[in-house]
Amino acid sequence: MRTFTIIVFYHLLFLGTTYAQSASVAAAHPLAVDVVESILRKGGNSFDAAIAAHFTLAVVLPRAGNLGGGGFVVIHTSNGEAATLDFRETAPASAFKDMFISDDDQTKVSSLTSKSASGIPGSVKGMWNLYLRYGSRKLSWSELLAPAILIADTGFFITEKLSEELNYNSSDFILRNPKGCGPFCKDLLWEPGMRFLQTTLAESLKGIRDFGPNYFYSGPIAKDLVRQKYFTFSDMESYRVRWREPLIGEYRGWEVITMPPPSSGGIALLQLLYGSERGSNSMEEIGTAESYHDFTEISRRVYEDRAKYLGDPEYMTIGIDKLLDNIYLDKRFSNIDPDRVGFSPILKKSIDEESSETTHLSILDKEGNAVAITTTLNASYGSKRWVSGFFMNNEMDDFSIAPGVPNQFGLIGYEINQIAPGKRMLSSMTPTILIKENRKVVLGTPGGSTIITNVFHVIRMYCRFGHSLQASVNAKKIHAQAWPNVLYLEEGSYSKKVVRKLKRKGHKIEFKKQIGRFQAVSNDQSAPDILRTGDSSGRVIFY
Ligand code: DON
Repeated sequence: MRTFTIIVFYHLLFLGTTYAQSASVAAAHPLAVDVVESILRKGGNSFDAAIAAHFTLAVVLPRAGNLGGGGFVVIHTSNGEAATLDFRETAPASAFKDMFISDDDQTKVSSLTSKSASGIPGSVKGMWNLYLRYGSRKLSWSELLAPAILIADTGFFITEKLSEELNYNSSDFILRNPKGCGPFCKDLLWEPGMRFLQTTLAESLKGIRDFGPNYFYSGPIAKDLVRQKYFTFSDMESYRVRWREPLIGEYRGWEVITMPPPSSGGIALLQLLYGSERGSNSMEEIGTAESYHDFTEISRRVYEDRAKYLGDPEYMTIGIDKLLDNIYLDKRFSNIDPDRVGFSPILKKSIDEESSETTHLSILDKEGNAVAITTTLNASYGSKRWVSGFFMNNEMDDFSIAPGVPNQFGLIGYEINQIAPGKRMLSSMTPTILIKENRKVVLGTPGGSTIITNVFHVIRMYCRFGHSLQASVNAKKIHAQAWPNVLYLEEGSYSKKVVRKLKRKGHKIEFKKQIGRFQAVSNDQSAPDILRTGDSSGRVIFY
């Protein structure tokens, strides 16, 4: 591919360049940021710091940080190597296409709350493989787990957000865990500033520290999961992470390094970026009804392609090159009616209100090692089922349960994303790294189906409109995804006049309090999403 040759050459050109005077980090919790700083000060690199922060987030951000989930890493090293690591969950061997369907709703097994809602977790093998390939070796595996263990053992002071979540979810935690769920099942009213101890989680982390991933995939944790009938030993032992060729595109002179399938994020992001630049459409404006309309229609086509063509790459029949081909995309985007909202056929039922969580971590060290990790349990606290000190994911809901039936994010899939043993479910997570000359930007966000459009908006604000990184993160977001045929507007992203004009074009509009929780960094800059709710935190570290 021509772009690829150019890009390889481009990397060689900047080989050895010092990227920054300092490191920068943005994460969903201040303790994760502290841990990153301490690992870097001890001589670790970005990848060491990311591993330590991932385990720390499993302790301090139990709604999304995890041992029981999975995710993706996008990497760009100081010597110009780009890579991605897929530690997405997989369906167990017993999984089958119609496992969440029943003739009557009474006997239906839930893809969100049952034990069957969980895929085999990838996080522990993910972090182990990241350590083996990119860890500096100046710090041992055990040193990288030490901060998380200490915080789990001695406790940390809960924030207002965490206290609210613990109180809100308390009855579900108790209901779904009749044998208890440690501190989560305590019958008390949580208040900010209370200390939160997780001794069972600390024991699990110590086992992983001492025995590596075997402790999780064939040792005591696997035993616990098998005993509780989540998976078989063979399911656990056969779980594999995948190193995948990154998707590399170009946007306004920036190299865009992003995640390939089983995430739909990278392809959809590059399609959106291309669509927003082609011809003369109103996307050269910010905040106008016309640009919101064009965005909705570009997005519609992108999410239609997502549903039809994307899934576990081992099952994909249409090549990535085809979906990113300019001639194909020109045709796809050529029939947008500037005056009328479009329509995407098929939809069996409407979606439930989204209530979910994921977390993103961005780190750039002073040598220029960049790492973007997005990781998730899918919904907030996953299935809310607690095993060996941690919550299990409910990622099986990311498969298409049945053709045309939307998941919790309203996303629809076809055969390509239907359930099969060992298969990875399609994701929207879009960890991304941008590079231009001696600058790197590392970014990503939670938000289910809105992740892709959020990453698109931030990149556009930053690269096309020249806003600062923090202003691009802060900017109010909009979202559209074909099904449902709705344009979502974040509070503050619209005026009455814009809404009136959009309605005249036939748009159904819904208002959202918040879209995503972005975490971005660049050389000597940290841009956490501090304006939106949560405990986002970031720092520039001189060391
Ligand atoms: O992989 C995915 O696309 C979803 N499981 C991510 C879920 C998510 O981002 C929820 N967060 N707000």
